[in-house]
Amino acid sequence: MIYFKNVSKIYEPQSVGVRDIHLQIEHGEFVSIVGQSGSGKTTLVKLMIAEERPSKGSVKVSGWDIASIPKKSVSVLRRQIGVIFQDFKLLHNKTLFENVAFALEVCGIGNERINEIVPQVLQIVGLEGKRDRYPHQVSGGEQQRAVIARSLVHRPKILVADEPTGNLDAINTHEIIEILKKINEFGTTVVLVTHNKEVVNSLRRRVVTLEHGTVVSDQEGGKYVL
Ligand SMILES: Nc1ncnc2c1ncn2[C@@H]1O[C@H](COP(=O)(O)OP(=O)(O)OP(=O)(O)O)[C@@H](O)[C@H]1O
Ligand SMILES: [Mg+2]
Repeated sequence: MIYFKNVSKIYEPQSVGVRDIHLQIEHGEFVSIVGQSGSGKTTLVKLMIAEERPSKGSVKVSGWDIASIPKKSVSVLRRQIGVIFQDFKLLHNKTLFENVAFALEVCGIGNERINEIVPQVLQIVGLEGKRDRYPHQVSGGEQQRAVIARSLVHRPKILVADEPTGNLDAINTHEIIEILKKINEFGTTVVLVTHNKEVVNSLRRRVVTLEHGTVVSDQEGGKYVL
C-alpha cells in the first residue's frame, strides 16, 4: 500500500532529505518511524502525501505513483490519507465540532452527512461531550484529539502522524497513542513518526529507524535503541 523503491529526495540545491530508501508498508500495519533530528522522517512523510516528489526512485501510495501524480489527483489521495502534524492548528473561532465539520465543508459535503460523520469521529477520540467548546476551552491533549478527529472525516485508509505527541505530557501522549491503536484496529494503516522511546517500546510493533536519510534498521516488535 506504501512502497518506496530506491528513493532519494535531494532538496535544492544540495540538501539530502532521504537517500536510497527501500520500504514497503502493507495494509493494516502500524509502523513507527524513528531517528534523530534531520534523519529524514518528515521528508518520508511528505513523499507519502505527495507534498514532495522523489528526486530519484519510485514512491507508490494506494496505487498512485507520487513522481507523476497529477495535481488533481493529489486532493483525491489526500482524502485517503489522514495527516496529523504536530503544528497543525485548529481554527480558534470555531468550536471543535465546527473545526471537524470544516474539513468536510471545504469538500462540498452537505449538512446531513456532516451531522452524521462529525459525531462519529468525535466519539472515536472521546470528545463528543466537548463538541461545542472552542479550542482555548479545552486542553492541549484534547486539541490534538480534535485534530485526529478532523483527520478521520474521510475515513482514510492510511493515517500518517508526524510527532503527534510532541507537545504533550506522558498521560496525554498515552491517550493519543491509544486512539491511534484503536484507529489501527479498525483497519487503518498507521504511520507514526516519533522521538518518544517509551511510546515506541510500549507499542511493540514495527519500527523503522532512519539515520542520515537512510533506513538503518527495520524490525517487527522492535525497540527504539538510538
Ligand atoms: N525544504 C528543505 N530544503 C532543504 N533541505 C531540507 C528541507 N527540508 C528538509 N531538509 C533537510 O533534509 C534533511 C531531513 O529533514 P527532515 O525534516 O526530513 O528530518 P526529520 O527527521 O523530520 O527531523 P526532525 O526530527 O527535526 O523533525 C535535513 O538535513 C534537513 O535539513
Ligand atoms: Mg520532522
